[in-house]
Amino acid sequence: MARRGTTADLAVDLGTSNTRIVARGGGVVHEAPTAVATRPGVKGSEVVAVGKPARRMLGRTPDEIKVIRPVRGGVIADFDATELLLRHLFRAVGTRSLRKPRVLVCVPTGTTEVERRAVQECVRAAGAREVLLAATGMAAAIGADIPVMEPSGSLIVDIGGGRTDIAIVSLGGLVVRRSIQVAGSAFDEALVRWVRQNHALLVGDATAEAMKLRIGAAARVEPERTMRVRGRDLPTGAPREVDLTSFDMAEALHDHVDRIRKTVIDALREAPPEIAADIHDRGLVLAGGGGALPYLDRVLSDATGLPVLQPDQPERCVALGGAVLLEDAALFERVAQAQ
Ligand SMILES: Nc1ncnc2c1ncn2[C@@H]1O[C@H](COP(=O)(O)OP(=O)(O)OP(=O)(O)O)[C@@H](O)[C@H]1O
Ligand SMILES: [Mg+2]
Repeated sequence: MARRGTTADLAVDLGTSNTRIVARGGGVVHEAPTAVATRPGVKGSEVVAVGKPARRMLGRTPDEIKVIRPVRGGVIADFDATELLLRHLFRAVGTRSLRKPRVLVCVPTGTTEVERRAVQECVRAAGAREVLLAATGMAAAIGADIPVMEPSGSLIVDIGGGRTDIAIVSLGGLVVRRSIQVAGSAFDEALVRWVRQNHALLVGDATAEAMKLRIGAAARVEPERTMRVRGRDLPTGAPREVDLTSFDMAEALHDHVDRIRKTVIDALREAPPEIAADIHDRGLVLAGGGGALPYLDRVLSDATGLPVLQPDQPERCVALGGAVLLEDAALFERVAQAQ
């Protein structure tokens, strides 16, 4: 637990797709894909690459190299690889003091006590002196400039790579929270499946993500955009190309988008009436990289009747909120209980 009036040196948003770190007083968000490439060495496995270069190797490695994405669905799945990644990033960020840093880590809502302790242990093993935890939903709200301490409710929906976190905040607490493991990576997997089923073509995860970024769509909205995609023909095994459109993407992503839509509506239904009225005035804040999927804002706005606001740097909200908490020990103390 933090001592009164103290806060951490570094804030970490350990995301499924990207890890972001901010140092106190630095203001810059350092980010790297949450990926580590290893190969067997004399003393256990040795690191080949971390972050961006590791991510580029995905799906392209010889047998002896393994690319690990150590966080799944917002939760650490591979502790050794996460420790390696964080150790590398801590070094890259550098801290002013010679002492080991105190580190604030944002963890998704619904993280169990066992998982929270595991995060703390892992971050300590990576070089932290002490590990403080904050809820990602709260950090995202702060990073999106929501006045979280006011007696007024705000709704934030953070759609990342592994998780969609929905939080309604008021008076420094989380009034309603929902978290589902449907987000950017699930979108990519759905696209791989759709292309396989509809075109008997196998595309890799990286290609699926590229499709999503180029022609992705949460709904069929004109103009229809097209992209040529290359994969492996399933019957013959030969390389083959196919033209896909944004309407195809909307069809492939329909079930996931619908699940997110329903979860947001559920969260709103759970909000006390006064808070529902506040949200009606303020709208829904859409954060996270996955939230940038074209027309998702429109789907959520149509479903809820609320205006949807997108912060300037939606995928950085959690890290930016973490940065605010590093500077403001009093605020950290007041929101630390929110889980
Ligand atoms: N313009 C875009 N359209 C659709 N998806 C996008 C866009 N930009 C980024 N993404 C997706 O956003 C996801 C990454 O978002 P983000 O960095 O917020 O996730 P994360 O914080 O690492 O994950 P999580 O919070 O779920 O653990 C990836 O799946 C990426 O493909
Ligand atoms: Mg995130």
